[in-house]
Amino acid sequence: MTSETARYKQQAAEHAVTYVRSGMVLGLGTGSTAIFATRALGERLRSGELRDILAIATSKKTAIAAREFAIPLMDDSLPQEVDLTIDGADEVDPALNLIKGGGGALFREKLVAQASRQHIVVADSSKRSPALGTIFALPVEVIPFGWRAQQRFLTALGAVVTLRHIDASAPFLTDHGNYILDCAFGPIGNLEALAAQLDARTGIVEHGLFIGIADVVIFAGADGITTLTRKIDV
Ligand code: A5P
Repeated sequence: MTSETARYKQQAAEHAVTYVRSGMVLGLGTGSTAIFATRALGERLRSGELRDILAIATSKKTAIAAREFAIPLMDDSLPQEVDLTIDGADEVDPALNLIKGGGGALFREKLVAQASRQHIVVADSSKRSPALGTIFALPVEVIPFGWRAQQRFLTALGAVVTLRHIDASAPFLTDHGNYILDCAFGPIGNLEALAAQLDARTGIVEHGLFIGIADVVIFAGADGITTLTRKIDV
């Protein structure tokens, strides 16, 4: 990542934190963009600008960071509705549908997102895409048992499928001990149809298509900050 990209990520994330109010229950996203929001939140709590925040982390990594920044965390039972979640994304289409899971946390990210009243995505402008799948392979979380059967299934759907590794010999493991299959589909024509096929398949725990979930996307880039809001059909 260039220092310029890192600066854009930070700008988008810090802008999103201006949506946070004292007393909120917050979802904390995962990744190199969302971490800037978590840090900014910690700073505002420390300065007294914000108070009475309770947060839920979307990954073990984010939970560790939140503790470092002294952000109060709720337990994993997610007992209450989340007011606002700030998270990153790997690819965003014009309707604000997303591909997520580059950091491998898609399962908890989607779970927390679905429990959230408002979902704000933060990203540098390079994540804007005319059609999901154009710039990023779709991460699919599968249980290790029988994973090759899922690989065959995903290949039959038209993807070039790669088991994610942390090094030459060890597969990447999610926080739930599962594998990630990165599926290069190219531009995906029918998101809903693909999501339905993935949702119906036993052994697939979750996939990185976030359809109709993001309410607001904040991009930062050379042109400054752009805020897009999802249009809801009525
Ligand atoms: C984590 O699993 C992902 O969904 C991230 O939100 C996504 O990969 C964006 O990551 P960066 O902010 O690091 O680009």
